[in-house]
Amino acid sequence: MIIAVDGPAASGKGTIARALARHYGLPHLDTGLLYRAVGVSVERAGGDPADPADALAGCDFDPALLGDPALKTESAGRAASLVSVHPPVRAALLDRQRAFAGQPGGAVLDGRDIGTVIAPQADAKLFVTASSRVRAERRFHELERMGADVPFEAVMADIIARDQRDAGRSTAPLRQADDADLLDTSDLGIDAAVQRAISLVEART
Ligand code: C5P
Repeated sequence: MIIAVDGPAASGKGTIARALARHYGLPHLDTGLLYRAVGVSVERAGGDPADPADALAGCDFDPALLGDPALKTESAGRAASLVSVHPPVRAALLDRQRAFAGQPGGAVLDGRDIGTVIAPQADAKLFVTASSRVRAERRFHELERMGADVPFEAVMADIIARDQRDAGRSTAPLRQADDADLLDTSDLGIDAAVQRAISLVEART
């Protein structure tokens, strides 16, 4: 069984994907981490994530980087969203994601284009979203817990800029697949959102 979970930043898609993977005993891939690793590796090499050649060079990142806490930062997310607009970067990461999705027992993948590009054949597709204010509040509290002192308005502006870049790019833009179920988590706690996700997957499989 392949489960595709897509949605914008801080929608809850990662939490839901991990919970589904646990529930069904499936391996999970957070595809955002791959783009974050490319972005961070470009910046560490002194390159510009917005430059296509620099971004492509970053695709040869050291796999050990995937476990680096630096990938979780806002600046890594921003670098990821800059490198991810370049079609050659998306192409370079494609096989790895498709191979993960094609494992014999199935898999759960979360990202922006899993249901539309990476695994259009997925058995269940969820498009997880929440209002931009709710997502900014979640990200703000998460940053606060990590000890970062970022003004709420800056977090909100970053969420909106990221949405625009992810939905506006020409290759594999963020959009709900025609056969995906919409899950709006604006008014749901984690447990309720996970329960709802399981019901939606059950109804499809
Ligand atoms: O999901 P996460 O916030 O870690 O993703 C970081 C960035 O990587 C996103 O804003 C998006 O630009 C890019 N991304 C993507 N396609 C994916 C996953 C992430 O373009 N499948």
